[in-house]
Parts: sequence; structure tokens; C-alpha cells
Amino acid sequence: MIKISDLGKTYRLGVVEVPALRGVSFEIHRGDFIGLMGPSGSGKSTMLHLLGLLDYPTTGTIEIDGIDVSGLDDDERTDYRLRKMGYIFQDYALVAELTVLENVMLTAMAQGKTEAECRLASTNVLSIVGLINRLDHLPKELSGGEQQRVAIARSMVNRPIILFADEPCANLDTANSRAVLDQFRTINEELGQTIVMVSHEEWHKEYFHRVIHLKDGQIEADEKQPN
Ligand SMILES: Nc1ncnc2c1ncn2[C@@H]1O[C@H](COP(=O)(O)OP(=O)(O)OP(=O)(O)O)[C@@H](O)[C@H]1O
Ligand SMILES: [Mg+2]
Repeated sequence: MIKISDLGKTYRLGVVEVPALRGVSFEIHRGDFIGLMGPSGSGKSTMLHLLGLLDYPTTGTIEIDGIDVSGLDDDERTDYRLRKMGYIFQDYALVAELTVLENVMLTAMAQGKTEAECRLASTNVLSIVGLINRLDHLPKELSGGEQQRVAIARSMVNRPIILFADEPCANLDTANSRAVLDQFRTINEELGQTIVMVSHEEWHKEYFHRVIHLKDGQIEADEKQPN
């Protein structure tokens, strides 16, 4: 479903060129739960930004369901992101002044649905992540794991084709990390959601179907996991 061919990214800082990704090719299948691992600086976040259409590649193409999305213009990319992609970042990026429900509804509203439709869709995803009793709480009234689950609900509300998560457990203790990973497993298995997640933790591998190891901007290994 997603075909990545010769994807490369070189950052230019004045006269200095930093090759962050050096022409990688692989395919992501619907329903995959992929772990993207590798040392610091190996290009994991760069890869996620390119796949998530948040940045432009220097070389190569990304085809999603037969459409070359790397060739879309800015407006088309924004539209594609809003309708088809979900993101979860390390710092959750919740709006502090908005309640749990409002944080999720904000993303749902961006698609131009009615308020009632957005409320229903948002309540549904918040119920999936076990936060139906926290709808009117502010982010600061939640634990780290609960805040991350709001971010997961928000990333799912528009039913994206694919979910990107960049070290979503980086600020969480083991118990909260497990809660988040269990949630990912549930949406992957029950809703067939495709997930690409960056991680530094060996024990997270037990959740992944497949681990892509990056090193110096190249794929060092692409391992199918036994689970
Ligand atoms: N905006 C940027 N401008 C210049 N160089 C960058 C930029 N973003 C990343 N880089 C460089 O590209 C390389 C890959 O960075 P990237 O953030 O993709 O690594 P990473 O694998 O996500 O690392 P980490 O595990 O530390 O998050 C690094 O050498 C980094 O310094
Ligand atoms: Mg990174």
C-alpha cells in the first residue's frame, strides 16, 4: 500500500550538507505495526517526517495506494495529511486550555464535519483509549500516560490510513509505556490501523510485527518479529 523508493534527505546548513537519509526503499503493508529503530542521528525522525508528508525528500518517491504523494503541491499535501494521516509526538502537543474532548474535537473539526459528528467521533475514540470518564478534564489534570492516550485518540479521530508515532513513550515510565503500547496493539488488531513507531527500547519489539533498523541513513536490517 505504501511504496518507498530511493528516499533520501540531505539537510543543507549554509555550505554544510548533512545526509540524513541515503536512498532507502521498502514497502509498508496495510495493518503493519512497524518499529523504526536505530542509534541517535540515524535518520528515524527524518524518515517519519518524510513519510508523514511533513517535509520534502531530496530524492525518491512515496506512493500511497498508487498515488505519488511526494509530487503533491502544498495544499494537496495539507489536505492529505488532515484526511489520511495521524501523528503522535513525544511531547503529546495537547492544547493546555482545552479539555480532553475539545482537544480531540479540534482535529475532527479540521475536516469540515458538523459539530455533532465531531463530538460523536471524538467520544468514540476517547472511549476506545479508556478515557470516557475524563472528557471534561484539562491535560494538566491527567497522568502522562493519560495525556499520551488523548494524543492517540486525537491521531485516530479522522480514521487515518496510517499512524506515525515518534518515540511516543519517551517521557513515560514502564507502566504508562505499556498502557500506550497496549492501546496501539488494540487499534492495530481491532481497527486494522497501520502504525509506524520510532523507538529506542528493546522491549518494545515484543509489540512490533516488523522492525526496520536504520544506521547512518540506511536500512541496516528489516526483521520480521516472531509475534
Ligand atoms: N533540520 C535539520 N537541519 C539539519 N540537520 C538535521 C535536521 N534535522 C536532522 N538533522 C540531522 O540529520 C541526521 C538525522 O537526524 P534525525 O533527527 O532523523 O535522527 P534520529 O534517528 O531521529 O535521532 P534521535 O534518535 O536522536 O531522535 C542527524 O545527523 C541530524 O543532526
Ligand atoms: Mg528522532
